[in-house]
Amino acid sequence: MNSSGIHVSGSLRKRLAVTLIGGVTILTVLLFFVIRNYATQIAQQSQDSILRASVTSILDAATIRNGDVVLDIPYAAFSMLSTTTDDRIFYAIYQDDTVISGYENLDIPEASARAESRFRTITFMQVPVRQVTASRVLVGADLQTHVTATIAQTQDSLSGTLNRISRNAAIFGAGFFSLAVLLSAWVTSTTIGPLTRLADSVARRGPQDLSPVSKPVPSEMVPLVSSLNLLMARLDRSFKQSEDFIAEAAHRVRTPIATVRSHAEMTLQRVDKEENRQALRSMIRAIDETSRAAGQLLDHAMITFRANQLEFHDVDLVQIAQEIVLRLTPITEMKDVELRLDVDPSVKVSGDPILIQNVVRNLIDNALKYSPSESVIEIEVRGTPTPRLEVRDQGPGFLYDEIDTLTDRFTRGRNATGVIGSGLGLTIARDVAAAHGGKLTIGNNLAGGACVTFIF
Ligand SMILES: Nc1ncnc2c1ncn2[C@@H]1O[C@H](COP(=O)(O)OP(=O)(O)OP(=O)(O)O)[C@@H](O)[C@H]1O
Ligand SMILES: [Mg+2]
Repeated sequence: MNSSGIHVSGSLRKRLAVTLIGGVTILTVLLFFVIRNYATQIAQQSQDSILRASVTSILDAATIRNGDVVLDIPYAAFSMLSTTTDDRIFYAIYQDDTVISGYENLDIPEASARAESRFRTITFMQVPVRQVTASRVLVGADLQTHVTATIAQTQDSLSGTLNRISRNAAIFGAGFFSLAVLLSAWVTSTTIGPLTRLADSVARRGPQDLSPVSKPVPSEMVPLVSSLNLLMARLDRSFKQSEDFIAEAAHRVRTPIATVRSHAEMTLQRVDKEENRQALRSMIRAIDETSRAAGQLLDHAMITFRANQLEFHDVDLVQIAQEIVLRLTPITEMKDVELRLDVDPSVKVSGDPILIQNVVRNLIDNALKYSPSESVIEIEVRGTPTPRLEVRDQGPGFLYDEIDTLTDRFTRGRNATGVIGSGLGLTIARDVAAAHGGKLTIGNNLAGGACVTFIF
């Protein structure tokens, strides 16, 4: 298994390279032996034909004179056999089965057809020799006899030639091998190339790009690419359905809750009995809790969904902060809290405006919820050193032992008792910051009060 959790079974590139280079190795060895074998045959044939010429010229010189076989071996018969390595020559002349000249222990092979030259390779006097034997029938006035000549020659010159040929064949083989290895490397990389290019083009896509692969691919890759395209089309459809579902759900949940709440409010105004008023107030509070929880849950779902396929736009943090402050004015006036903006002229970031708005709203909403009336909430937006938005309030601030867990889902602090909320605001802020490659820091001011910073 590799780092991305995928089970890896071998490598196509390696398998291809091993097969090609293995084939090339076998071919090179085979080629070497074929060349050597062929060269041996040719060299042997040329030695044989000289030996045959030599033995023939000896036999040609045999005559019958006065009833005896007379043999005057011509000089050329041996001189034609001379080699650069001074190979040794042995010969024997037989009349019928008796040696009349030469080495007595140089045997002749059993003759099946006596007239032909017979070749064999034997060991004579502890050295390997090539032997040729030929016979001739001599007919005189009152004599008919078989004369057989045999010549054996050591093979030093031949093996010298063969060694030279082997060396050249080996050099040729090595050259052929290197060239074939280079060729294999090239073939491997051109074969794997389309696969690597496809992987690259899919990896380079933005998260929201679910369009089908349109680049041409080799026919073997068509099933893979068509499955990939099908998968992406399904994913695209299901993303769109989720987006529509979240928007629809938000609408369908918020409207009836708002209706129920306004009915409860109206009833509260008409009811005088204290215990009924109490029950109605609890009801309104429960409705508020439900409404907040539903809103935050849907926002969180929407944010998780959008963060997975983030679309980057140029966003002005200052403008977002100003708009939200303006929108919250009725609430701040009611609570007698001042929202004080301290901003650079313009702080441009690249991100999803809806997600960023949601975070800013949640941070200011927390400051409003958890700080006392007649206090000041400072909202600072700076472009340097990195774009950031900080919200500081004059409330009790965070409890230090809770800070690490408050960004977890549905986690609320001990100071939240009696305050409506669902424990998702900081989770949303942290997730959006992470999706934009930034972070959320939570702490308290030196002078007291919470300080939350959204850093890009
Ligand atoms: N400005 C603040 N001052 C003090 N405590 C805060 C502040 N902001 C957040 N907290 C603490 O952090 C907890 C988590 O905040 P978070 O915004 O995630 O949830 P919430 O405000 O309780 O609910 P909601 O999902 O409705 O925002 C809060 O319950 C509260 O205890
Ligand atoms: Mg909150």
